[in-house]
Amino acid sequence: EVAKKASHSSAKIILNALDKPRNVDYKGKSNLVTQTDRKSEQNIKSIISEAFPEHGILGEETGKNKSDSPWLWVIDPLDGTTNFVHGYPSFSVSIGVLHQNKPVVGVVVELPLNRIYYAVQNEGSFCDDNSISVSTNSNLSQSLLVTGFGYEHGDLWKNNMRLFRHFTHITQGVRRLGAASVDLCHVASGKVDGFWEFDLHPWDTAAGILIVKEAGGMVSKMDRNPFSIYDKQILASNGNIHAKMLDEVDKELPDIIVSK
Ligand code: IPD
Ligand code: CA
Ligand code: CA
Repeated sequence: EVAKKASHSSAKIILNALDKPRNVDYKGKSNLVTQTDRKSEQNIKSIISEAFPEHGILGEETGKNKSDSPWLWVIDPLDGTTNFVHGYPSFSVSIGVLHQNKPVVGVVVELPLNRIYYAVQNEGSFCDDNSISVSTNSNLSQSLLVTGFGYEHGDLWKNNMRLFRHFTHITQGVRRLGAASVDLCHVASGKVDGFWEFDLHPWDTAAGILIVKEAGGMVSKMDRNPFSIYDKQILASNGNIHAKMLDEVDKELPDIIVSK
């Protein structure tokens, strides 16, 4: 309930800022941050701290507080900042809660739709109070996938260009929307059958991976090992096409060590 309250309240801050001029700073050449990102993070942190003063908090814009608590809140105060800046309709607020390193709560508010996706460990996944589940498709050739590209244009990015081309060729298409947490929710609700990306951060995935798993999907690294939010590569799917997607990654990137 606290994660929902915080994300709804920050969603309001972001929606209110949509028709106002953006105040953009640059973390890198194409890595944007706005005052709205910072305002949203402060707002979420103050709501969490009021409810759970001793809990740990890791936020994209302000880092990690000092805490010995087994509880860790992982916040992306505005996922899809580039989209927000341009008014392209795919961005979100994402809040994941980990207990002893295991995701136990995930909330993503997809904007500008203002649709809330959430999951609690062992209790299923929901969108606006309706139970959601992944797609049942088991054919890669009939799948729709989604991916994303990070801001650093190094080896991981180049690998992803290869995978993008390959999966576009062997499926019904690959989308690239620009907010990883939303992409994961689209897997969880069966809008797409699979998602993969390199070079993400803990706040991009902390909420979405639980929402996918609780909706009946699968999440792993591309080398088939279990995924942790601190890993740099992720593959999430409806489960049925998971091994098939991993086989294609192996085929397309045989010379690349993806287990970073
Ligand atoms: C970004 C988005 C995007 C992904 C990037 C992320 P930000 O987050 O999730 O989809 O491709 O790798 O950094 O910077 O907008 O919070
Ligand atoms: Ca993000
Ligand atoms: Ca962000």
